[in-house]
Amino acid sequence: TEQPRRRTIRDVSKGGVPGVWLTAYTAPLAHRLDAHVDVILVGDSLGMVVYGMSDTLGVSLDMMIAHGAAVVRASRQALVVVDMPFGSYQESPALAFRNAARVMAETGCGAVKLEGGAEMAETVGFLVQRGIPVCGHVGLMPQAVKATGGFRTQGRDAEQARKVHADAHAIAAAGAFAVVLEGTVEPLSREIAASVPVPVIGIGASPACDGQVLVVDDMLGMFGTAIPRFVRRYADMGDVIDDAVARYAQDVRSRAFPGPEECFGVRRQVTPG
Ligand code: KIV
Ligand code: NA
Repeated sequence: TEQPRRRTIRDVSKGGVPGVWLTAYTAPLAHRLDAHVDVILVGDSLGMVVYGMSDTLGVSLDMMIAHGAAVVRASRQALVVVDMPFGSYQESPALAFRNAARVMAETGCGAVKLEGGAEMAETVGFLVQRGIPVCGHVGLMPQAVKATGGFRTQGRDAEQARKVHADAHAIAAAGAFAVVLEGTVEPLSREIAASVPVPVIGIGASPACDGQVLVVDDMLGMFGTAIPRFVRRYADMGDVIDDAVARYAQDVRSRAFPGPEECFGVRRQVTPG
């Protein structure tokens, strides 16, 4: 049978059936998601989800490259998008290009994503014109929580709403192939999805978006603390793991594990007769 062609940014489309995006950070999970999703995002949320950090500011370029490469290796058909971490692109378009080129070359991913509104438009254009596909990320921007005062829903007042709207349009106009819109009130998100010419991918945004994204550990019920309201839990993997590990612990302590069938060189009991 023919191997499926890997999706590209051209497959991320405006309107129609919404695009299915999920994060993954490791090979085994990327392998499982690959058949079901359009895009795997190697988000810098891995700092919180995988490394136990309280925000994403401590994530390094090397961490993103290591996890991005693992996800590309383990997937065949999904477009893989890798987040640019805090400090790797904000300083200048030239620094952003140097670091984004490393991410592209060392992971084999199809695109990078970076946070920022109008102030990052020049950088987005600089990368796109030089061969690096960029996905934007506006609204709630986790890399800016120290400046904005925390993980807060965006667009509640008119001034903020105008800013999020202008940010999404600026990033699209700069050449981004898609824009993630995070943590923004629904009516504004709907208006942005309708007016921005490129696909708008929502997370805590609106069902009217051109696609949806979630942090996979959140929707699988793996990441116990402080789950945002916009997450729907499709599984309770934490409970599954608790149960398995508790039974293993009991079996080890009672010498029920390992059994003879799990040991080498143990003669099978032959029943006489
Ligand atoms: O880092 C991440 O997982 C993200 C998504 C939440 C969009 O940026
Ligand atoms: Na991110």
